[in-house]
Amino acid sequence: MADQGFAAELRTATWSDHGDNEGSSYMSALVEGRLGRAEYAVLVAQLHPVYDLLEEAADALSADPVAAPFAFDDLRRRAALEADLAYFYGPDWADRIGRNQATRRYCERIKEVCFAWPGGFVAHHYTRYLGDLSGGQYIARQVERSLGIDQGEDGVRFYRFPGKPKAYKDAYRALLDAAPWDAGERAKIIDEVRLAYRLNAEVTTELSRELRIDPAA
Ligand code: HEM
Repeated sequence: MADQGFAAELRTATWSDHGDNEGSSYMSALVEGRLGRAEYAVLVAQLHPVYDLLEEAADALSADPVAAPFAFDDLRRRAALEADLAYFYGPDWADRIGRNQATRRYCERIKEVCFAWPGGFVAHHYTRYLGDLSGGQYIARQVERSLGIDQGEDGVRFYRFPGKPKAYKDAYRALLDAAPWDAGERAKIIDEVRLAYRLNAEVTTELSRELRIDPAA
């Protein structure tokens, strides 16, 4: 794969792991409009600690020449997630939400690798933020429609960025292509993205179980 840039190599090498997320019962039910507000809110509650940690890691690595450029301020999601949580759970949302076991495992891995290993930070950052800028934009339209919330309003702020998703994605992929990683480091990052996809899939699998979402529906 030496003749293609790392952005394309990373996408190709991890696309089958992406499918486990796209095809999960919870995500399918969500995009097919089979979930109500309370059932959607529990996903937002799982995402909050993840972005909280990723954005803390971005601050910790703000002087790192490789990691820092990936963490554009415009991508930060914590404030949007908090507005959405306040909408669903009320002003005392922080006391009313909990993280499930899979979210705890995901957060543990972020703590292990994202604060001291720039490539590990980029792996986890890419998995979430490039996803939000990609399939996330489709998910947003489905959620807005099924929950009856206008684009970018409280409840669905998480999916809307200040600028155009394509511009951020192009810039992000250019950074992936330009990063000074050798073949060994690229392989480690690919492995970490695959793990990040698995950890994400486990979160929605646990939500499917908790909410008794029928995979065959
Ligand atoms: C219903 C659920 C999902 C659907 C329908 C979906 C759909 C898509 C689609 C169509 C793309 C390609 C867009 C493009 O080429 O511009 C994409 C890209 C991506 N998605 Fe998803 N996705 C879903 C869930 C997820 C989840 C849960 C994650 C993260 C855990 C994720 C992470 C990504 C990433 C990182 C990319 C960018 C890949 C790359 O171009 O390098 N997706 N998604």
